[in-house]
Formats: sequence, structure tokens, C-alpha cells
Amino acid sequence: MKDLRTIILAAGKGTRMKSETPKVLHGLCGQPMIQYVLDVVKFVGSLKIYIVLGYKPELVRASLPGEIVPVLQKRLLGTADAVRCAKQHFRDYRGDVLVLCGDTPLLDKDVVKRLIRKHKKSKAACSVLTSVVSDPQGYGRIIRGEKGVVIAIREEKDATEFEKNIVEINTGVYCFRSQDLFKAIRAIKMNKKKKEFYLTDIVELFVDQGLRIETVEAGDPSEGLGVNTREDLALAESFLRKKILKKFMAEGVTIVDPETTYIHKNVSIGCDTIIKPFTVIESHVRIGKNCVIGPFARLRPGTKIHDTVEVGNFAEVSRSQIGKKSLMKHFGFLGDAWVGSQVNIGAGVVTANFDGRQKNKTRIEDRAFIGSDSILVAPVKIGKEAMTGAGCVVTRGKVVPDKQVVVGVPGRIIKRRE
Ligand code: UD1
Ligand code: CA
Repeated sequence: MKDLRTIILAAGKGTRMKSETPKVLHGLCGQPMIQYVLDVVKFVGSLKIYIVLGYKPELVRASLPGEIVPVLQKRLLGTADAVRCAKQHFRDYRGDVLVLCGDTPLLDKDVVKRLIRKHKKSKAACSVLTSVVSDPQGYGRIIRGEKGVVIAIREEKDATEFEKNIVEINTGVYCFRSQDLFKAIRAIKMNKKKKEFYLTDIVELFVDQGLRIETVEAGDPSEGLGVNTREDLALAESFLRKKILKKFMAEGVTIVDPETTYIHKNVSIGCDTIIKPFTVIESHVRIGKNCVIGPFARLRPGTKIHDTVEVGNFAEVSRSQIGKKSLMKHFGFLGDAWVGSQVNIGAGVVTANFDGRQKNKTRIEDRAFIGSDSILVAPVKIGKEAMTGAGCVVTRGKVVPDKQVVVGVPGRIIKRRE
């Protein structure tokens, strides 16, 4: 979008999280909270993105894409001060500025786009994304005057009993005319109770100048959730999890029990795959069509499961690929393994991929049969149609040729497989 720049406020420590990790780096469905906000900003097509950092800035910076411009807020003097810190980048800029907080990961990208559109069309100086919620506690309340026009945003601490009953809240997402924003922000006074400069005070200043304030209301009350505590974090996780599951079901994936299924962001699953209860599928996992996963399976990052594969109970698969029509129906562990097609992985099979210093690879070729309780000490290779006997330990560095049968501890080749 032309004439749109974004400022993300993320300097806060997140005191109420009681954490040494900056708030915006706490994880939600496998990715840091800030990533969700960035996804929204990317979607609306902002040309330049500035992020205000304060607490452990290097740590937050390291998790962001390179094109995002960090702005340092040395002392955390409030949301207005945070915006002011970005001022130097907006000197000759005459477009609009989208301002949002790093701690609102549930925002709906279409609603934010609608806010920007309405802002541009209405020629307002400021447009605020609001939300009508059942419990407004902790949020700034939207104060409307005659004819319903917005005249102020009142923070909880400064609200009268009457104002506290208002259920329309400020989500912390605004679109401003850049020139008006940076002119008015200098005039914001320090809030005496909190000793901070509130960005929300800008609304009253605009109203005094006769400038126009617009609002857009979020469709779902949850979208405006600001994550301030660990409880909020759990609420956000649950919201996002449901959204992810819903998307997969719409795409033709059976989720037998959404209540006990955990699928992270950046996962792909083909249609007609069935995910059974108590299954965890982490980020960067790809699953093909017609698979059966679970119950009680855990697929970890870097795993690729091809079509028509079964991964059953208490199976853990990490950084591995499993080829077409292969079976791993029972408990066991595959790590750093490449498994071909039509392979059978028996109950209790373990790839011993870590030797105490480094991770090593296992390769299991097509139609191999790995007997129950086999341990494959990587690096190791099992040839096509080869077979390991129950309880066999295939030792480190071993290459079992195609069609050979290996048994015992340490594993010895005894014959060709019929
Ligand atoms: C803020 C809003 C409130 C709104 C709510 C929505 C103000 C004064 N209040 O309250 O109206 O309902 O968000 O979630 O704006 N930050 C900085 N520098 C600072 C202070 C804060 O960058 O000096 C950042 C924080 O990292 C955070 C965001 O600004 O990402 C909001 O700050 P927070 O303290 O969470 O504000 P709330 O009390 O939630
Ligand atoms: Ca907040």
C-alpha cells in the first residue's frame, strides 16, 4: 500500500508476565507473539516498518526480518513517548501511519485493512480499531459524546465508575495522518498517576483542534486481546489453536478431537489425512494425503511425511522424512532419519542420532523391515528390503546391504532376506 508506514510498539518488558524474556518473544503455537503482528502488517502492505524496542533490544531484533527498522526507546515513558522515538524517520513524510502494539497477536488482518481503508476514505486525522468485549478491565475505554462521536480514550486508572462500565475498548491499533500525529504528540502531557505519556491522550487533543476521529469495530471480541499476563498468553494460544484447526478441517483434514490436538503455525497437511486425539504437530512439518497420525504422536520441526503413511501412538519424529506407504504404528523415535517408501518400523525402534557431541543421520531404504526394539546407532544405513531382527543393535557406521538380514547385539548379517 502506497503512503503507509507502520510503527510497532514493543519496548515494554511486559512486567506482568514476570519473565526475563521480552514479552513479544513469548511463543504462541510455535512462533513468537511478535510474528503474528508482523504477519498482519505484511498483509496490509505497509512499505516501511519501524519497531520500537527497549527491553533487551538485541534479543528482539535478532528474531525479526532484516528489513524492519529498529528504533530504540531508552526509557520506557509510555506509548506516546514510544511513537515520538520514531519521529526522525517521518520528517518529510506526508502519508498515513499505522500504529499497533507488539502484544496483540489475535488481530484479524482483514479488519486492520478495513481500518486503513476507512481512514483514507474518511480523511480522519485518526482512526481507532475498537472492540466490544464482555470484560473491559485493563483496557482504555472509548468515550463517545453527542451523536456517538469519539471524544476521548480513558485509561482504566483514570476512569470514573461510569466510564469503567463502558465495554467498547481501545485495541491499541490506530491509523494516523502522519503530520497530525507528530505535531500533536509533542503536546501530550505526562499522566500524573502513571508517570507516562499516553498515546491515547492524542484523541482529546485532536478533538479540541476540530480534527476528525473515526472508528472500526473488530468482528470478534477476542481479536483485540492484549497479552499482558501468562493467563492472557494461554487465552491467545487457545484462540490461535482453534483457528489453525478450523483451517485444516476446512481443507479436508479430519481432526478427530480438536480439544486434544495441537498444531502449530507453518504446518501443511494433505486432504483425507486423519489426525487422532492427543497429537502434537510442531512448526515446519509437512504431511501428505491419506495419512493417519496419532493418537499420541509428536511430529517435530523439519519432518516430512509423504502420502499414505501411518504414525501411531507414542511415536516421536524429528527432522526426518518418511516415504510413501511406510508404517510406524507404535512407540519409538526417529531423529535425523531418511526413511524410504513402504518401510515398516516396528514397535520400539529407536534411531540413536545423538552421540553426545553431534547429531548423526540414519538412512532406511525402500521396503526395509526394521524389527521391534531395534536400535540404529547413527550414522547408519539400512539397504533396500533389508531386515533387522527384534532387539538388534545396528552399530555406528554400519551399512547393511540390500536384502540382508541382520540380528543380535551387535548386529551381524546372517542371511539374505527371502
Ligand atoms: C494500551 C493502551 C490501552 C489499550 C491497550 C490495548 C495506552 C496508554 N494504553 O494499554 O488504551 O486498551 O494498550 O492492548 O496506550 N510500549 C512501549 N514503550 C512504552 C510503553 C509501552 O513500546 O514506554 C509498548 C509495549 O511494549 C506494548 C504496547 O506499547 O507492546 C502497549 O503497552 P502496554 O503497557 O501493554 O499498554 P496497556 O496497558 O496494555
Ligand atoms: Ca498491553
